Amino acid sequence: MKLFNVYPLFDITPVKAKDVYVYDKNNTQYLDLYGGHAVISIGHSHPTYVKTISEQVSKLGFYSNSVQNPLQVQLAEELTRFSNCKSYQLFLCNSGAEANENALKVASFKTGKKKVIAFKNSFHGRTSAAVAVTDNKKIIAPINAQQEIEIIDFGNTKAVENSLKNNDVCAVIIECIQGVGGLQEASSQFYKNLRDLCTKYNAFLIVDEVQSGFGRTGDFFAFQKHDITPDIISIAKGMGNGFPIGGVLIHADIKPSFGMLGTTFGGNHLACVASLVVLKVMRDEALLKNVKDISAYFFEKAKAIPQLKNIKGRGLMIGLEFNFPIAELRKTLIEKHHIFTGNAMNPNLLRILPPLTIKKEHIDVFVEALKKELS
Ligand SMILES: Cc1ncc(COP(=O)(O)O)c(C=O)c1O
Repeated sequence: MKLFNVYPLFDITPVKAKDVYVYDKNNTQYLDLYGGHAVISIGHSHPTYVKTISEQVSKLGFYSNSVQNPLQVQLAEELTRFSNCKSYQLFLCNSGAEANENALKVASFKTGKKKVIAFKNSFHGRTSAAVAVTDNKKIIAPINAQQEIEIIDFGNTKAVENSLKNNDVCAVIIECIQGVGGLQEASSQFYKNLRDLCTKYNAFLIVDEVQSGFGRTGDFFAFQKHDITPDIISIAKGMGNGFPIGGVLIHADIKPSFGMLGTTFGGNHLACVASLVVLKVMRDEALLKNVKDISAYFFEKAKAIPQLKNIKGRGLMIGLEFNFPIAELRKTLIEKHHIFTGNAMNPNLLRILPPLTIKKEHIDVFVEALKKELS
């Protein structure tokens, strides 16, 4: 059987990885400034991560959600402590799309409405409602296009209110810093306006922290900079450092009922310990501080790249914008300099999403490689 060919692939076969480095089958070392698409948070193969998951799988890897699982309770408590999001309930699932799917479902169940407002250049995943609220027609099949969605310009409060006035909207979903869309972030006032408008028109404010959450921006959640209280927060990616896990933080005012949400694999024992280790290592190694320090260093060093048109983003969620398409540059960085980076919807934007353990010396290597290629 052949693979269903949906990805254009680089001809590299990673076989092992350690902290910020990935090694291929020829033992060539690659500097990972992509984190497997913002997934690697505490570094590849962190010893505590390997030990804890190995010990857990030798005891109990999985049992169903029909019995007690204290690891889920422990994860909810740790998450509360670490994020300072005190008035939420946790529902665990397996991916970012699934987190958004469940978030939208809760909003629709609770408001009794079905239209959703999303924003231009948004990306929320590839499943039913998650892909429908994604602003990319190419990945929306006719079956998904049945959803009632309005895509509004990022930052346009007036258009949001005009739409909400019809009282048929169950949710407004937004990435406070867009990932795939290209690192756009609006003013704090815009996010505060969204909060107020959602309350006024009985719609839920869903903040998609799948990519920006778990410390990637230097705050635990990107929305926290804007001092708002979302109704629902969706999480995944960095949460498991590569172990598939997603989650939905649902405000305490939203009451659950049996059958409203459910999953076979979500919140399994291995996924819970993976995420618990991520939080432990983030605390033990003060990774939020590292994100802020290295980010400041990166922004300073980037000034030495004369061809750089703009630098966007926050923390270790960074976009380098040039006035030419970066596809060739990205390929050269991988093939010649052995550095992984990411791309975006904007063809001129190179994305930097490294493990949160990265050090200044790694940034130096990248900036030197970039200067060399661009000169
Ligand atoms: C902001 C955001 N939301 C949702 C998703 C979907 O996550 P997953 O691929 O785990 O389904 C992504 C993936 O890139 C994302 O960046």
